[in-house]
Amino acid sequence: MINSPLGTVDILPDEAKFWTIFQQKARDVFGRYGYVEISTPLFEQTDLFVRGIGEATDVVSKEMFRVISGGNLEKVFAGEQIKAKSNLSLRPEGTAGVVRAVIQNGMLPQGSAPLKLMYAGPMFRAERPQDGRQRQFMQIGVECLGASEASIDAEGIIMLMRFYEALGFDTKKLNLVLNSMGCPKCRANYRKDLLEFLKKNEKDLCETCVERIEKNPLRTLDCKDEKCQKVLDGAPKISEYLCDDCKNHYEEVKSLLKNSGIKFIEDWKLVRGLDYYTRTVFEIQSGDVGAQDALCGGGRYDGLVKELGGNDTPGFGFALGYERTRLAMKNNGFEFEPAKTCDYFVAIASDGAKEKAFEVAQSLRDYGCNVEIDHQNRSLKSQFKLADKFMAKFTIIIGEDELKKGELCVRNMETHDQENIKQDKLFAFVEGKL
Ligand code: HAM
Repeated sequence: MINSPLGTVDILPDEAKFWTIFQQKARDVFGRYGYVEISTPLFEQTDLFVRGIGEATDVVSKEMFRVISGGNLEKVFAGEQIKAKSNLSLRPEGTAGVVRAVIQNGMLPQGSAPLKLMYAGPMFRAERPQDGRQRQFMQIGVECLGASEASIDAEGIIMLMRFYEALGFDTKKLNLVLNSMGCPKCRANYRKDLLEFLKKNEKDLCETCVERIEKNPLRTLDCKDEKCQKVLDGAPKISEYLCDDCKNHYEEVKSLLKNSGIKFIEDWKLVRGLDYYTRTVFEIQSGDVGAQDALCGGGRYDGLVKELGGNDTPGFGFALGYERTRLAMKNNGFEFEPAKTCDYFVAIASDGAKEKAFEVAQSLRDYGCNVEIDHQNRSLKSQFKLADKFMAKFTIIIGEDELKKGELCVRNMETHDQENIKQDKLFAFVEGKL
């Protein structure tokens, strides 16, 4: 017996229907804001993630799964170098791939309306698995390219809240945590002062933070260690370093959110784990999914398109984790109402009716109905049980009597009302015209 790899789960039919509904609701809500779907490869050249997400991030330095194509396998085993183009990795997130696709396919908006894209699918990170943290997980994300205005950020966050409402969340119970990370200009000054502060306090920081001082000092801010957090409370705050443009941008995002009744918590320590962010960053946190409480994260990335070889084009986006959102739903005690999938169950009341029943089932399917039929010669009683299990809306019973009269007996499974209709009136019945 070979089990699934560590940190992966099978999405079994009972759960798969929720993933389908989840995507449908996202398409519906995000579609109202003009987002259209894009699908990019599950693996890309490793360099895309190194340049896009940042070499010093945990995601790139520790968590990527490498992909080695058959032809290169022997070379890698022999310790030989493979060409940069053949150095591939499974995507740990969707933004870098979407931006690459947009540049490569000449889709960057040049003075026209911003390009609004959404995607849904698996991402891969070799993290230590725990509740709400997997090595293969599902994300739904959006990316908006070509507009730097604060109203794009506010619109995106409001849209996200509408999506959570559509899922059934009481959004008052979700924490929207907000920060501005400034632009490269203001961040350079901040980085310098933060670095100085960290070096001064090095002896009181945990090993990981000490490691991060030179490599990625901003990441020390979201260290989970309580002792570090106490030290970092005294660190310089990015909000005090924002240039006028960044300050005004942030104020406008906050004011648009406030005017739309969206509550948020400001946290100057929110820096996110990917290096591409500029200005607005945010997370949706839910207090009830354990240590992995970020259901969604995102923000603005005005330098990424240029970094990946495109024209200077601003960007904004977010991605939400399916598994964590499902966990939060379960912990809050609500589910989606799964749609009934069986319209008709065709029950065979006598051996002679088998052929007719098969024909009726097929014609209903061709007409567009979802139909189940017994294939295993069950008794009529067991067939009714089966119809209940399938949650059929109607059962069509065909026996000797019906065959003789050219009729069908239709039973409403909710009201238990039963009526006989002529066989040639079946589709009129389906249309509700009888
Ligand atoms: P992220 O914060 O790395 O952002 O991931 C977004 C969401 O994916 C998280 O809030 C979480 O729900 C889920 N997630 C991340 N890692 C795991 C994991 N190991 N297991 C389960 N769920 C996980 C991004 O990926 C950015 N690309 C978002 C973005 C789009 N920013 C701008 N545009």
